[in-house]
Amino acid sequence: MKKSYAWMVLLIVGFMLVASLSLMGCQADEPAVVPDDDDEVPDVEVTGSVGIVLPTKEEPRWIQDETRFNDALQAAGYDVEILFSESSSAKERENVETLITRGIQVLIICPHDGSAAAAAAEEARDAGVKVLSYDRLIRDTDAVDYFVTFDSVAVGEAQAQYLVDQAEGEGNPLYLYAGAATDNNAFLFFEGAWNILQPKVADGTFRIINSSEAIALQDKPVLTRDEMGKIISQVTTNWDFGDALNLAEAHLTIATAADKGEVFILAPNDGTGRAIADAFGADNAVTNYYVTGQDAEIASVQYIIDGKQSMTVLKDVRVLVDDAITAAVAYLQGMTPPASTTYNNGVIDVPAEPSEVITVTQDNVQETIIDSGYWSADEFTGL
Ligand code: BGC
Repeated sequence: MKKSYAWMVLLIVGFMLVASLSLMGCQADEPAVVPDDDDEVPDVEVTGSVGIVLPTKEEPRWIQDETRFNDALQAAGYDVEILFSESSSAKERENVETLITRGIQVLIICPHDGSAAAAAAEEARDAGVKVLSYDRLIRDTDAVDYFVTFDSVAVGEAQAQYLVDQAEGEGNPLYLYAGAATDNNAFLFFEGAWNILQPKVADGTFRIINSSEAIALQDKPVLTRDEMGKIISQVTTNWDFGDALNLAEAHLTIATAADKGEVFILAPNDGTGRAIADAFGADNAVTNYYVTGQDAEIASVQYIIDGKQSMTVLKDVRVLVDDAITAAVAYLQGMTPPASTTYNNGVIDVPAEPSEVITVTQDNVQETIIDSGYWSADEFTGL
């Protein structure tokens, strides 16, 4: 009796030793990933532990994120504060400091300016807060734990592929526009677009009209960040509708008749795409234009139905929001979120699991936007 009792104690101690050793190993260099639904996970308090900072209310894209976050958080029974940065890095830092003071453990932040946000991220990291870069990557710091993102290179590729698919013959006028140079995504979108467009410029299908920097680089299939930066600074919209409109009008003012007629326009997102479409649509010498976009904003879906914008790229914000909440909860549970790749932010490779994007045109708008429940049919006329 005594002997078997001693064996049992030995067995239990041995088991505990092995278990704690493997746990130590886990914590040291192999953190656990999110477990399957049936696995036991510790209950965590999300309310008060997570804070969200979004860049601006001036663009429908970020109002969409706010609404979708609120829907998802409410459904999960979480109460999480969402602060807006009014397109100001100073306000953004103030927001992060407010949330740190309130005791958050996980910060979900979409930076207004990727590099300027490094200081706020470092402040959060110093306070022991996990930093999740949301949709836009925070650059030039190691204080980023995870990147919640869509496949942004695929966004640019989808826009460019659409233009390529519409083009026939040679010498088609191509106008390039880009996002804000302070947004890392502007580079990823442009990189994707260049992947597809450059061979079609090289083979004569397209003729770049509005960027001497792009023309100078048109024989290079792969551009460095600096080279992309040169083109972007020439054709940037700053993600601003007014800037986009002014820039397009300026380009049309100096364009020759041969640079008009049927034209192809790479517009980086829906807001700027609508502004650029308005400028080209108002020019009598432009007989037909194809213009891209992204975000599936309600106004742009209507433009697509009306034939005023050619396509948009649906980045289902419901998916991104779910990814962000899942990642935040994983960190609160002491685990790490799933990652299938990394994005270099100038200092470190940040883990991420990018979500897919979908091309939307007049042909599939019903299926992708309405039938998927993304927007309700009564938002639109002429469907
Ligand atoms: C986002 C786009 C958005 C743009 C302007 C980008 O970082 O990925 O969805 O349209 O910023 O706000």
